[in-house]
Amino acid sequence: MPRIFSPVDISQEEKEVRKDYFDRHTPVIICDDTAHEGEKFKVKVKLGTEYPHPDQPDHFISYIQLWNRETFLAEVHFTPGVLGNKPGFAEVDFYIVPGPVSLNLTAMAVCTNHGLWQSESREVKIVK
Ligand SMILES: [Fe+2]
Repeated sequence: MPRIFSPVDISQEEKEVRKDYFDRHTPVIICDDTAHEGEKFKVKVKLGTEYPHPDQPDHFISYIQLWNRETFLAEVHFTPGVLGNKPGFAEVDFYIVPGPVSLNLTAMAVCTNHGLWQSESREVKIVK
């Protein structure tokens, strides 16, 4: 089992000292706070807010996954060079159709050199 880097496990002091390292690897979920039952709902996942991640043959973001609690929903795989072989912000839009129960979304991302990274969870209420 690989070590999972998660924002809740990292001290504020460590986050500050190594903020570029954490920023470029941590997935962030961007979506509305509410969704409509049975209607398509967009969930954007983006890595990094300030610091771009390399896109080199031996160091790149290889995949991004979306989870609802313990249920795996979807994933996207990247090939090295897809972001132009230069530092960038890996980003993907997932479209899901929620049921009647609220969502608790989490994203996971893997860097080929720096392991598995988990986003903060994101609660989404369902409107009927
Ligand atoms: Fe990395």
